[in-house]
Amino acid sequence: MSAAGGFRLQSEWQIADGACAGVVNCGRSGDLFSAFSGKNVKAGFLQKRSHRPAESTTQSLHPIMNSLQKLFEDQLADIYYAEKQIVKALPKMAKAAQHEDLKNAITKHVGETKEHITRIEEAFESIGKKPKAKKCEAIVGLLTEGTEIMESYAGTAGIDAAVICAGQKVEHYEIATYGCLVTWAKLLGHKKAASLLGKTLGEEELTDEGLSTIAESACNVEAEAAA
Ligand SMILES: [Fe+2]
Ligand SMILES: [Fe+2]
Repeated sequence: MSAAGGFRLQSEWQIADGACAGVVNCGRSGDLFSAFSGKNVKAGFLQKRSHRPAESTTQSLHPIMNSLQKLFEDQLADIYYAEKQIVKALPKMAKAAQHEDLKNAITKHVGETKEHITRIEEAFESIGKKPKAKKCEAIVGLLTEGTEIMESYAGTAGIDAAVICAGQKVEHYEIATYGCLVTWAKLLGHKKAASLLGKTLGEEELTDEGLSTIAESACNVEAEAAA
């Protein structure tokens, strides 16, 4: 799975100097083209990336890039809050899990998640900002639902499948957020932040794949056999 797939176009194109302001809220490549094909947009607004600008600063950015910069910082604060909640929830998931491989996978991810928090702090510092958290309603909802799923299946053969389901919902949220952040960091010229967040994105994807493997090889089968 690649949650960042829809954003690939952004990393291959850049906004040309002197282009006029327009809408940049392009979750998908199609939106990007339609946003830039309006009559108010000068020809050459987008140009194929032939050289990378030096590390960007907020002051020197084009208005549209300033919006992207704001969005980048906003979503970095969102995932900072989310990771701090996730690191508290994962040990409860590991405790609920019965299969040894699942317990181990979740426990390993507790350590990785602590690293994710540190990397976000480093990413903030790399762009000259203090780390800040913003309440993420999505992760609050996902973790609340995860607790409900795990409680509903406690003591049944379906508990491990339930834990995996709860865990993968969280991982997919993280993958989507980091996919956006890495793409935006590259566009904005924040090389260090892109590298730090890209490392985390890779770990989230591996965790998700690992959970799928455990589900397919053991937990789903056990839950079905007991039904
Ligand atoms: Fe994480
Ligand atoms: Fe994660």
